[in-house]
Amino acid sequence: MIELSGIFQTYPGPSGPVEALRGIDLHVPAGSVFGVIGRSGAGKSSLVRTINLLNRPAAGRVVVDGRELTQLSGAALREARKAIGMVFQHFNLLSSRTVYGNVALPLELAGLPAGEIRARVGPLLELVGLSGLRGRYPAQISGGQKQRVGIARALASRPRVLLSDEATSALDPETTRSILALLQQINREFGLTIVLITHQMQVIKQVAERVAVIDAGRIVEQGPVLQVFTQPQHATTRSLIDDIAPQALPESVLARIRALMAQPHEGSARLLRLAFAGEGADRPLLSDVIRRFGIDLSIVHGQVDEIQGRPFGSLAVFARGAHEPLRQAVSHLRGAGVQVQEVAYA
Ligand SMILES: Nc1ncnc2c1ncn2[C@@H]1O[C@H](COP(=O)(O)OP(=O)(O)O)[C@@H](O)[C@H]1O
Ligand SMILES: [Mg+2]
Repeated sequence: MIELSGIFQTYPGPSGPVEALRGIDLHVPAGSVFGVIGRSGAGKSSLVRTINLLNRPAAGRVVVDGRELTQLSGAALREARKAIGMVFQHFNLLSSRTVYGNVALPLELAGLPAGEIRARVGPLLELVGLSGLRGRYPAQISGGQKQRVGIARALASRPRVLLSDEATSALDPETTRSILALLQQINREFGLTIVLITHQMQVIKQVAERVAVIDAGRIVEQGPVLQVFTQPQHATTRSLIDDIAPQALPESVLARIRALMAQPHEGSARLLRLAFAGEGADRPLLSDVIRRFGIDLSIVHGQVDEIQGRPFGSLAVFARGAHEPLRQAVSHLRGAGVQVQEVAYA
């Protein structure tokens, strides 16, 4: 659906040119929700703006829905752009127009007859849940509602692709979830291909099927979300994942562990870090090893979340027991697909 190949983008800067994109190759499958994540300044906005040629790249090819946009200009490009809707972090609504008027605007600009515009805008407001607020002005609605207007406006020209540049970054977590759920509904109902640009792993986790990680103008890693989350290859990816699943144990937890370790005990005591990823994590593994090997396990810290309905996260567990059963328990867990890391040993 979207093919970017060899994209370079350079901006003039005070101390020489800024290379914002340095050789981007990207394939976004039709009908998918594709996430692009990166830190501030990584080149996300530059990248998304090349997809609809709001920024014309210095080099490279952009193909959307079979049309090579980089070959088009003028009226042909404007026409092709109608297949690509876009939503923005700060909504970009016209404050002098009502909710209805904002959604109708692109259709008015395209010269559609008034009856046709009414016939399209009504159902769009219904879809985004704003039918009751059609007469309000942007200043009279919440941030989440403004983004719903932005989404309805982006859909007005019946695009095949929706680009979202940090659409939820100005919203609170609850509103973010509801906007992402709306995007997901639109993806499913209309088969719209969605490219989601974000700096938040939370956003990727909730809706994306595939993700590309961008760093300093290059895609450093990409793949199915579960794979990238569970087997991150690049330091940037690991640090982004750390935002939602911190690897370091808080000091208060470490203090508790030191106290536990200091208690007299027979056999061994170990602090284990168990990383769950997808398969296996939904089985009663811990109670299983406790029973089977006659050891003690206490969970001291943890965060187990879900990606696309499959468990993902890690637990720090304090394990006590005789040496051999403990060793067997660890190898049993490993055999069940849990990554086991020994953090400490006593
Ligand atoms: N219009 C511009 N002029 C000069 N430099 C720019 C311009 N837009 C972006 N940049 C620079 O290009 C790099 C990538 O920016 P951007 O694509 O906005 O990143 P992101 O959206 O990931 O924060 C940054 O170093 C930024 O300062
Ligand atoms: Mg940006």
